[in-house]
Amino acid sequence: MRKKLIAANWKMNGGLVANRDLTQAILKGVPENASSVVLCVPFPYLAQVGAMLQGSSIALGAQNSSEYGSGAYTGEVEAGMLVELGCSYVILGHSERRVLFGETDDQVAAKVVKALAAGLRPIVCVGESELERAGGKTKEVVERQLEAVLDVMPDVGRASLIVAYEPVWAIGTGRSASPEDAQEVHLHIRGLLQRRFGTDARGVPLLYGGSVKPANASALFAKPDIDGGLIGGASLVAGDFLAICAAGDLMN
Ligand code: PGA
Repeated sequence: MRKKLIAANWKMNGGLVANRDLTQAILKGVPENASSVVLCVPFPYLAQVGAMLQGSSIALGAQNSSEYGSGAYTGEVEAGMLVELGCSYVILGHSERRVLFGETDDQVAAKVVKALAAGLRPIVCVGESELERAGGKTKEVVERQLEAVLDVMPDVGRASLIVAYEPVWAIGTGRSASPEDAQEVHLHIRGLLQRRFGTDARGVPLLYGGSVKPANASALFAKPDIDGGLIGGASLVAGDFLAICAAGDLMN
């Protein structure tokens, strides 16, 4: 079984004092060399949290990066800047970016290409809305979102790619997908990657995200194609996040 990857998505939460306390508690509680753990924090706090994580086994990530190289793009953040601040991961194509900020499949794909070129591991989010699931379109939507990325991604990026399946209806709602439903979609994604990459697809971590909590983490992580989680709300509570990391460790 692959080592589980547990990624925290703090979203637009935090502050200097809260970040310090949360990061300290996580550093203290995370067992060495168990699950791979990454904290994806808001841009302004990357330096603060990055400094605290130095010398630890926990990695630093951002929650977005630009599809452009540096230049006249007011308000954007280039992937190389994130690397300079110590990031090794970046979340791209989160449904909140797609739905609230109009990011398109092509834009997400272009961001992935830039992130890979800068040396970041992109956590590419895909997932269907409630309406799409009700209409039986889950696999079609996930495939469309992922194909857009795979169509433009260079072959060398395969070793860095991470995919997060995040059904939109499960994010922040307390209604996680059942382990069986999540596994079914993960298996579908694995199959798609297999067709495109061949055996290389086995090494691509497939994370599940959407209301992962201490109570459901073990059952989700026990599924053969669920390689870890992308954790929103529960990542802001040290005890909950550590319990989810511990659930991942049990599977290693
Ligand atoms: P949630 O968010 O755990 O709060 O549902 C997950 C995410 O949006 O990445």
